[in-house]
Amino acid sequence: MRLDKFLVEAGQGSRTEVKQLLKKKQVSVNGKIETSPKTQIDEKVDQVICQGQNLSYEKYVYYMLNKPKGVISATEDNQHKTVLDLLDKTAWDKEVFPVGRLDIDTHGLLLLTNNGKLAHAMLSPKKHVDKLYRAKVAGIMTAEDVEHFAKGIELKDFTCQPAQLEILEVNEAAKTSLVAITIKEGKFHQVKRMVLACGKEVTDLERLSMGPLQLDENLSLGEWRRLTAEELAKLEVFDVEL
Ligand code: URA
Repeated sequence: MRLDKFLVEAGQGSRTEVKQLLKKKQVSVNGKIETSPKTQIDEKVDQVICQGQNLSYEKYVYYMLNKPKGVISATEDNQHKTVLDLLDKTAWDKEVFPVGRLDIDTHGLLLLTNNGKLAHAMLSPKKHVDKLYRAKVAGIMTAEDVEHFAKGIELKDFTCQPAQLEILEVNEAAKTSLVAITIKEGKFHQVKRMVLACGKEVTDLERLSMGPLQLDENLSLGEWRRLTAEELAKLEVFDVEL
């Protein structure tokens, strides 16, 4: 790619500003000062230093967000705050988007990236990516419900694939339950609708994991961090360029 484009994308300023930097001999490529904006570089290999700063080009970026309630899993919205509003300028410049959706009142793990192929692979029904949720439920979940989940719950418009329901706690007096639910699909309101099909209601829903990615417990609601090298290595199972 052109050197000036690379510098702009690396956050060194506008096209005009980076031209000035080049003119002032502030940029070197592999140790050699370059002054022409048209210089072609291989951004994956060449070492570009601008004003003493080593710039590494990132094609794809990956953010783990602990989505809070009240924000929507979209990139733009006229009414509500979106998950993009919680991220930084790099995320906007790189045009990241959420990998799948969580309802406005669901909180927990959300991956955002600009890697469309990864998103596609993680969301593909064929890949059977497990999503683990923890749900607070109004009503008492039973062994019958566990079986119902395992058989595949029939909803109005489709039959769910077999899913796992684990009862973590039951409060007989308050008539509430805490459950862990693992599904391989991600249809609209799916977890809530599955619980509703058992005659109970989800009152709080949190996503804890998606495939090999687990929500970092150190992230408070609304906080994010970039994926670590270890997490990225786990995403190699999806067999796409990362
Ligand atoms: N299932 C739901 O019902 N809501 C979500 O946000 C995610 C899964």
